[in-house]
Amino acid sequence: MSTRFLVTTAIPDPGLSLLEEAGTVTVLPAPPGHTHLTQLCASGDYDVVLTQLRDTINAELLAEAKVKGVSNYAVGYNNIDIDAATAHGILVGNTPGVLTDATADVALALILATGRRVVEGDRMVREGRFTGWEPELLLGRDVTGATLGLAGFGRIARATARRALAFGMTVLFAPRPPSHRVVGDEELGEFAGRVTQATWDELVEASDYLSLHVPLTEATHHLVDADVLARMKPGAVLINTARGPIVDERALVQALREGQIAAAGLDVYEDEPRLAPGLAELPSTVLLPHVGSATVAVRAEMARLAALNAVAMAEGRLPPHPVNPEAAR
Ligand code: GLV
Ligand code: GLV
Repeated sequence: MSTRFLVTTAIPDPGLSLLEEAGTVTVLPAPPGHTHLTQLCASGDYDVVLTQLRDTINAELLAEAKVKGVSNYAVGYNNIDIDAATAHGILVGNTPGVLTDATADVALALILATGRRVVEGDRMVREGRFTGWEPELLLGRDVTGATLGLAGFGRIARATARRALAFGMTVLFAPRPPSHRVVGDEELGEFAGRVTQATWDELVEASDYLSLHVPLTEATHHLVDADVLARMKPGAVLINTARGPIVDERALVQALREGQIAAAGLDVYEDEPRLAPGLAELPSTVLLPHVGSATVAVRAEMARLAALNAVAMAEGRLPPHPVNPEAAR
């Protein structure tokens, strides 16, 4: 019998064509609800399921699943219970590396857009409220010379640091907030002597721009809460291109309203696609629809990796990018 793939949402080429070369592909016409997806995975009709971040692959689904692997079309995999997958011998693959620069570009875009009030300005011009050059029109905050605090120091944080250094920012980082870990010069590589390590508390208090680059785990859920927001500088800006639930979004709205911090640039939300009440009404927020990896070339590369992962798992091999290689028994 030929290999059978279940694809919850169509992905760009060359993803689907690689799957079609390897077997039979079923692409669902609309994103499945949780019960429907659980039934499909339990049916025995599919060898591998190719999932999106909005598909919740929890312990209950995995306990019934008869698939060999789950290929997630993302680098993050907080939508999948990895321990449960491993316990059931189900491999999980992801798409690391290919979206690093694109996501760092969006972090920089949000730093520049919040600092220099790009979206407020655009709105003013479109709405006919621009009446000529004025000495104090839309004064923003400097980017050059400002301190950027990076929460996390993985691939995307490093790519953001590289860009920020080119803009003349001072770069601090806390590698695994909220806990502390000392990063030696060897691990720092090209950044040795150019960026400064800080504790999470120091980072919170010293940053003009605080940018989040940690995975979503129990330890990082609400890493930025009311207490952290209260300890940030009054003129500080929060940038989130990682995962929404790392920030207590209601507390963020409150802190922005009360002027505890100055602005926020967000690409991700706590309860996507819903927004915390009041967030969209604040002129000091720049809000993007989770587009960190959204370039034509990056999405095609992600599709290629997700398909290669899926084909390998269907054929009983380790995928090129396994999240839980220990599941192969
Ligand atoms: C996108 O958010 C990803 O994790 O790839
Ligand atoms: C993701 O690719 C990261 O390591 O930051």
